Amino acid sequence: MTLDKNKLSQEKLDQIITAARLMKTGGVVAFPTETVYGLGADVTNANAIRKVYEIKQRPANHPLIVHIGEIALLKSWAQAIPESAWILANHFWPGPLTLILKRSQHIPDYVTGGQDTVGIRVPAHSVALALLHALGPDKAIAAPSANLYGKISPTSAAHVRAALDKKIDMILDGGACTIGLESTIVGFNRDTVSVLRPGGISVSAIESVLNKTVVLCQNTRSATRVSGSLPAHYAPTTPLKLYPTEMIFQTARRLSARNLRSVVITWSDIDLPELNGSNIHHVRLPNKPTSYGKHLYATLHQYDHAAFDYILMEAPPELPSWLAITDRLQRASFSHISSTI
Ligand code: TXA
Ligand code: MG
Repeated sequence: MTLDKNKLSQEKLDQIITAARLMKTGGVVAFPTETVYGLGADVTNANAIRKVYEIKQRPANHPLIVHIGEIALLKSWAQAIPESAWILANHFWPGPLTLILKRSQHIPDYVTGGQDTVGIRVPAHSVALALLHALGPDKAIAAPSANLYGKISPTSAAHVRAALDKKIDMILDGGACTIGLESTIVGFNRDTVSVLRPGGISVSAIESVLNKTVVLCQNTRSATRVSGSLPAHYAPTTPLKLYPTEMIFQTARRLSARNLRSVVITWSDIDLPELNGSNIHHVRLPNKPTSYGKHLYATLHQYDHAAFDYILMEAPPELPSWLAITDRLQRASFSHISSTI
């Protein structure tokens, strides 16, 4: 495994050794990846995996992603790996890409929710890779995002602490996640390559590496269970609504007149109309999808706990590069889609 341990302090390396020891004895440890923080356990430890489901309050038939330390280990955990999967793994790993493959006999039922496929990726984060390294080549970490089921994924150790602190054995702090959105999930069926969840790697990047068109099926109901593909997901507790640019401030003003507080989150350079009193708080996120994606969840976490009645989001541009963000915001707003304010 290529690993630049020089980047990690001795203190961090010691924490990683402790985390690996905890995991080897059935512990549940939150750890950083480049996408979001994961809630990890040893793939082969039934009891530890059961705890992950319990802590997250996740339905048992929703499979977990298996994290491995290097591409060479893929063959231990998957079989009948298609050529296009190898091409993607070689190009994008370590990185925010999860491949859904036929599982090997080493992957137990309780990790995949009984499905005969398994989601696998090599995370691009020095702490995650060092943790996998410390566990050893015969181990892998099954990890969903380290949030309660249906809620916003954590992109910092503080987010994990706020949601799960007392329930888990340890939180490894690796700073803020650089991508900030979950991995892209890709499935294979004969000659068809499908994106099941848009994410850190764009559909066009996958198409250009494979030199073929891929199918985007994030909104279809398939036989496989992708919890991030359920309509309501990634949701803050505060009602979140999406508005076109030209409607967002007038909506906030209408709420303000009823003495309701809203945070207005925009990306464009629309001019700020005069805001009435203290009921409206304006936050401007970057207008580039990569930097917007990096800050999105942190911003939602921050304002979800700031006593606002509504989170009003400016609808993202309808461009392929914003697809993962649009997907997450539509799911975050789904429960309130038909409520009028
Ligand atoms: O970036 C990420 O993918 C993060 C980090 C921690 O790696 N993980 C993550 O895990 O987002 P989770 O559990 O929150 O979302 C994983 C998604 C779920 O929607 C799950 O249903 C889907 O992957 N998944 C896992 N295995 C699958 C399989 N065999 N077939 C179809 N979907 C699968
Ligand atoms: Mg998740």
